[in-house]
Amino acid sequence: MKNHKSSNFDTKVIHGAPRHPNLTDVVAPIHPTTIFNHPETGMDASQDHYIRSDNPNRRQLEELCTGLEDGSQAAAFASGMAAIAAVFQALEPGDHLILPQDVYHGTRTLVKKIMHRWNLQFDEVDTTDLERVRQSITQKTRLIWLETPSNPMLHITDISAIAELARELDSGIQVAVDNTWPSPALQQPLNLGADISVHSATKYLGGHSDILGGVVINKQSDEMAGRIRDFQQQAGGVLSPHDSWMLVRSIKTLGWRMKGHCLNARKIAGFLSDHPKVTKVYYPGLKDHHGHDIAQKQMSDFGGMISFEIYGSAEDALRMVAKAKIITSATSLGGVESIWEHRRSSESDDSQTPEALIRLSVGLEDVDDLIEDISMALG
Ligand SMILES: Cc1ncc(COP(=O)(O)O)c(C=O)c1O
Repeated sequence: MKNHKSSNFDTKVIHGAPRHPNLTDVVAPIHPTTIFNHPETGMDASQDHYIRSDNPNRRQLEELCTGLEDGSQAAAFASGMAAIAAVFQALEPGDHLILPQDVYHGTRTLVKKIMHRWNLQFDEVDTTDLERVRQSITQKTRLIWLETPSNPMLHITDISAIAELARELDSGIQVAVDNTWPSPALQQPLNLGADISVHSATKYLGGHSDILGGVVINKQSDEMAGRIRDFQQQAGGVLSPHDSWMLVRSIKTLGWRMKGHCLNARKIAGFLSDHPKVTKVYYPGLKDHHGHDIAQKQMSDFGGMISFEIYGSAEDALRMVAKAKIITSATSLGGVESIWEHRRSSESDDSQTPEALIRLSVGLEDVDDLIEDISMALG
């Protein structure tokens, strides 16, 4: 079997998953087996023996993801939240964590409601402000969590600057980036100095709104990586062979899908910016976006997610999203189909998201059709 070593993204996504050495299949088979034959000498922990510990499909996905972000290890989980929880669970009770003020509401809820009960200390900080981050670091800080672009306000945090700050203050602080929104096609946190990159694979990695999954990629084979692997295997929130196979298949088109998402989103962001019923557009590709320069530096393009506010109330925003004929009113993101939602209704009670904000995941339909649909819905 050929073994491609190209460092170009569109080649890596197609040829980066290792193939089974004894099989000639071009497309790997799905291995549903939960158990594997022991050798005559009894169970060998270094070989496949039980599905939760390891299996060929999950391994293939994990090796592919490791290569896509130049990590040393990836661990695949049954959801993005399971992946995020594994990172927090790798900390010690009493450790301190910095959480962005604007972050996926599920991550905030996990920290505030669950991890805090296990005595994980945290501060919510504007991570776009380096000085604020510096002032929030204590002797107990072990993790800085970043999400850039953030969900749903698309704040941009300078990953390299935060990673440098963490290293300067304490070599024991790890920087983790939720890289779900840009995907590895547009942003490479580990190559920007972060220690951990996390994905809800349910979004762009899956790309078709039909897989729930999560991945953690570690830069180093360090203690943190070991703890995450232990947690994956012992707590057992692992990705199934079928979903692992589906992801390996979906990731093959990731680079091209992201090019389409970015192209459509750029046009739609421009259209929305000029629309008289829209008061504000949050898209880092717009020159007047506060994080445009940093986004340009650390992302290869600006992504497929746009948030915007309209004149009016939450009810007006809800009415608007219900009106569209092509764009589906639904939560989540990253699929080939465009979806949007009145974001505040999907978030937890402590949501700070503006009342009339709509979050749009731009799909791969013809962009003129999408603009016509948005125009009709805006009335
Ligand atoms: C940025 C981000 N991270 C994590 C998650 C959680 O992922 P999952 O739904 O796969 O558990 C989401 C879900 O919307 C998300 O948007």
